[in-house]
Amino acid sequence: MGTGQELYKKAKCIIPGGTQLLSKRPEMFLPDLWPAYYRSAKGITVTDLDGNEFIDMSIMGVGACILGYGDPDVDAAAKAAIDNGVMCTLNAPEEVELAELLCELHPWAGMARYARSGGEAMSLAIRIARAHTGKEKVAFCGYHGWTDWYLAANLGADNSLDGHLMPGLEPAGVPRSLRDTAFPFHFNQIEQLKDIVAKHGKDLAAIVMEPGREISAEGGFLEQVREVASATGAVLIFDEITTGFRMTAGGIHLMIGVNPDMAVFAKSMANGYAMSAVIGISEVMESAQSTFISSTNWTERIGPSASLATIKKYIKENVAEHIIGIGNAVMKGWDEAAKVTGLKLHTSGLPTLNHFSLEYPNETELTTLFIQLMLERGYLAFNQFKPSFAHKQEDIIRYITVVTEVFAILKEANDSGTVMNKLKGPVARRGFYRLTSKKD
Ligand SMILES: Cc1ncc(COP(=O)(O)O)c(C=O)c1O
Repeated sequence: MGTGQELYKKAKCIIPGGTQLLSKRPEMFLPDLWPAYYRSAKGITVTDLDGNEFIDMSIMGVGACILGYGDPDVDAAAKAAIDNGVMCTLNAPEEVELAELLCELHPWAGMARYARSGGEAMSLAIRIARAHTGKEKVAFCGYHGWTDWYLAANLGADNSLDGHLMPGLEPAGVPRSLRDTAFPFHFNQIEQLKDIVAKHGKDLAAIVMEPGREISAEGGFLEQVREVASATGAVLIFDEITTGFRMTAGGIHLMIGVNPDMAVFAKSMANGYAMSAVIGISEVMESAQSTFISSTNWTERIGPSASLATIKKYIKENVAEHIIGIGNAVMKGWDEAAKVTGLKLHTSGLPTLNHFSLEYPNETELTTLFIQLMLERGYLAFNQFKPSFAHKQEDIIRYITVVTEVFAILKEANDSGTVMNKLKGPVARRGFYRLTSKKD
């Protein structure tokens, strides 16, 4: 067990749940063996606390580091912000330049507000939508963060969020009075949204969704959602926290051609620096002034400075084209490696937000073994991959060679029934569950 796992054991005793983000729990990857903490990260190379170096072919800071770790241009902008003072009695001028840039990229939008995390920005958007409409209920599809308006969907019927985030998400601590304020519908299921509108239309403040991700909109689904929102008077909010700056400079909705009333960005917009934004049509955004939305740390200077540098570089270097090429190469490589080794595998998702599933009843065991074998070969690997500008085609060629070798071992282990014997620790645990500090 490395220094990282030792530290994680301590963390679980002093930090409930061990980490600040569910998706960074080492148990989700490789229990007892995942390096857990990093000493440094640069480009696509991660160094753990014991000085071991790994190439990151997994989720690149949960999708935040679109340019790669420690991008020199973004870091220079952050350092300049530090040199000039990150906090002051006066405001950071970068806030205005960033609002102009975001509205220029999304011509339907007229105004922007900021926060520093995705979930926080989503709460801000919902508050503005409720303030604007004077209504309270929300129809939503997909995952939108940890805050009360969203988890309220699991009050009473504890399976509402199944299929949207993960089964078993507990809403303890969310006021019971929020019951019946958030209603889920599934992507491409316009009838489900229409049902919600039929029952709650007169009280509906917002319709919230990602405009696409795992699957694309079919049969004019987004156009129909737009129509329903306009007809009902609900504010249409596109959550672009994960999809934003993944396929194009801005929201993925720009490629689809359906405009929301508000869109929310975080993650990739600042290459890992804390930053999030809500943009929207001016008429809706102005309602931010009829409620109270205000926080000291939303005025610090590093976030908007890093975001401006990230977006400018993204446009200048045509990062979208690069990462789409890298993502496609990885998906093709997985398919070919599976074919060569006879492993049953299915790839899915956008090229820049992709993953594979191993089509076996013991998929979790097999995927855990994949992660273990790749780690032993110097890779942080997972069955998901989020490409960055720092990944080059030659990195992918080397990676796929190693993947092919590992897939062959998986196939042999599965055929001979020795997958569990080969695992050096417990099987990965996905989903939401409680960590007990000492034994887990
Ligand atoms: C679509 C979507 N919305 C909201 C969030 C929450 O953002 P954050 O983790 O920055 O609070 C995420 C994070 O994964 C997301 O993918």
